[in-house]
Amino acid sequence: RIPVFTTIKDYRSWRDQAFESRKSVGFVPTMGALHDGHLSLVKRSLVENELTVVSIFVNPAQFAPHEDLATYPRTLPHDLALLSALEHQPTPSAARGGATRTPSAVFLPSVKDMYPSGINQDVSQQKGTFVEVKGYGEQMEGRSRPTFFRGVATVVTKLFNIVQPTNAYFGQKDIQQALLLRRLVGDLHLPHPTPSRLHIVPTARDAADGLALSSRNAYLTPSERQFAPALYASLQGAARAWAAGANKRETVEWALKQLEVAKDDGEKHGVEVRVDYVEMNDPDTLGVLADEQVQLSDSTPVTPVVLSGAVWFGRTRLIDNVILGDQ
Ligand code: PAJ
Repeated sequence: RIPVFTTIKDYRSWRDQAFESRKSVGFVPTMGALHDGHLSLVKRSLVENELTVVSIFVNPAQFAPHEDLATYPRTLPHDLALLSALEHQPTPSAARGGATRTPSAVFLPSVKDMYPSGINQDVSQQKGTFVEVKGYGEQMEGRSRPTFFRGVATVVTKLFNIVQPTNAYFGQKDIQQALLLRRLVGDLHLPHPTPSRLHIVPTARDAADGLALSSRNAYLTPSERQFAPALYASLQGAARAWAAGANKRETVEWALKQLEVAKDDGEKHGVEVRVDYVEMNDPDTLGVLADEQVQLSDSTPVTPVVLSGAVWFGRTRLIDNVILGDQ
């Protein structure tokens, strides 16, 4: 059984022991409803650290008042079973001696413990301390969810201060989140983790149709689920156009055109497919690239760019991204 710490105090005494024995601690923060995407992060941490901590905390501050905080899937017993079951999988050959096969601890704090000043989802009503990473949280996801990254940056700062991980693991599926947090730990000079110890793990996908695994996929009706792979397919199609020499505007248009086809198709089957955005951004600064950004010739090394999108399938909003020029 994996030890579960429900208070900051209990976790801290466990962490103190790890410091004393000089053991490395890998950290995977999650909101639960675990799937193979989360588990790929945990497995990576198990290989690279002597101890691994997984947190499960549905963070109210990153949900706007009209969003799905109340209905966000909560599956704690199943989550703990999935983490325990990792033990029965073969140890990765790269595992260092002494690496454990299951997480060493699950951190499961209460909202009250995490937000001693209280928390209101309405930003105008909030009191206490919040963290913002300017220039990283306004574009892409931030345009549709203006208070989201403030909530993420705040909770992850708190979690890093409590967990004090040697290494932390985030998914490429939420690329803006991972890059923003890397900037945060550098800007705030957090001792744990340092920016180079904030690792970005490739997106885990459905083997059959490429849909990025997400806790929110559980909201999809069977017919919406059939259309959901259109997002990744459109990004892949655009990636091929980019590789063939399309510039930024043409590449984004390519993705939008394919999503338009999915929208028309969806209408015939009673499924609403609605594009929120498709954007192309610099992978370091997340700055929006100029339309005339021209693809360089085959022989010139291409600077990678992030092509990302968000699409509504019925009442469920899904996101995905690919890195272009990184093959
Ligand atoms: P959550 O959505 O539960 O995701 C936890 C971590 O799993 C994130 O780093 C996310 O990028 C990663 N992840 C999700 N789906 C993935 C997939 N298909 N492949 C690879 N990694 C995947 O992201 C959050 O929670 C929260 O914002 C959090 C960072 C915990 C702060 O509250």
